[in-house]
Amino acid sequence: MMNIASEGIVGITNIASVLLIVFSGIFIIKGKMSLGNYWAVSQYALLFFAPMQLLASIRIMVQPGIAALTRINELLKLKTEDEICGNRQVGKIENIIFSDVSFGYSEKTVIDNFNMAISRNEKVALLGKNGSGKTTIAKLLLGFYKDYSGSIRINDIEIKNVSLSDLRNRVGIVAQNIVLFSGTLLDNIRFIAPQLDEHEIIAALSKAGLDISEFAGGLQAVISENGKNLSGGQKQKIALARMIIKNPDVMIFDEATSNLDIETSNLVKQSIHTIFAEKTCIIITHDPDMASLADTIIKI
Ligand SMILES: Nc1ncnc2c1ncn2[C@@H]1O[C@H](COP(=O)(O)OP(=O)(O)OP(=O)(O)O)[C@@H](O)[C@H]1O
Ligand SMILES: [Mg+2]
Repeated sequence: MMNIASEGIVGITNIASVLLIVFSGIFIIKGKMSLGNYWAVSQYALLFFAPMQLLASIRIMVQPGIAALTRINELLKLKTEDEICGNRQVGKIENIIFSDVSFGYSEKTVIDNFNMAISRNEKVALLGKNGSGKTTIAKLLLGFYKDYSGSIRINDIEIKNVSLSDLRNRVGIVAQNIVLFSGTLLDNIRFIAPQLDEHEIIAALSKAGLDISEFAGGLQAVISENGKNLSGGQKQKIALARMIIKNPDVMIFDEATSNLDIETSNLVKQSIHTIFAEKTCIIITHDPDMASLADTIIKI
């Protein structure tokens, strides 16, 4: 549109110049106009066209700016998660109940009439093929989506009414896609609990099977955006350490051992019945060994 408009403006001024020459020529031949007059008119026309072109192009230059401002305005008007979520505090999580929950990201239903009841300290394994909706269930439990049908209740409070900061302090996840920030290893863990000293962080990392000497620079080792300079297993160990430090009531392990070596994977499996014994655990896995740690297995 911008190209059409700018070419249009050039076209119109060119046509106007041609018309001026043609009509001036006719008038001069008929003796109705002198060459001097023609010269004067053509100079005035030039003076007239230049600012007209400029005025027209200002609109073309301003238009993208207006569009960008509209988008920024729309973004600034969006409500934050905290403004649209409820404000009920759940307290220590005693039970989680999914009743007839259906949800889809678009028209396609991903979870259809899903039911699940988990009580305190229970270990539940969620099994199902790729794309069956296991991670989606974890996301629903963390309050990422509210447009589900049915009910998801924690301590008998509908999750839509719960304060998200309270919910997320009480439910932790070692996610399938681990988010790491560019910064030091220490920065990537300390944001969970700024009051912790370095010894406590090293202890949590070692519980997660990560030996700090693996990293040149120890806790000051630099991690690039999204942990591109780390192996999949190292990232998972950092995510596990975050979970250990966060110490939530409910721990979700979404394929949390898929990249770990046998030794570390066994360490995590042991932890589920030792350091996490007093925790409610939702274990999403394709590994039968990991699933066998659970009290209840739910296939979706
Ligand atoms: N953010 C999203 N937007 C649209 N569709 C999505 C989104 N996330 C997942 N899906 C779709 O929802 C379905 C369920 O995805 P989900 O990640 O819950 O599967 P999963 O059971 O965890 O699979 P996997 O075992 O591979 O991890 C898939 O068909 C996927 O394509
Ligand atoms: Mg998944």
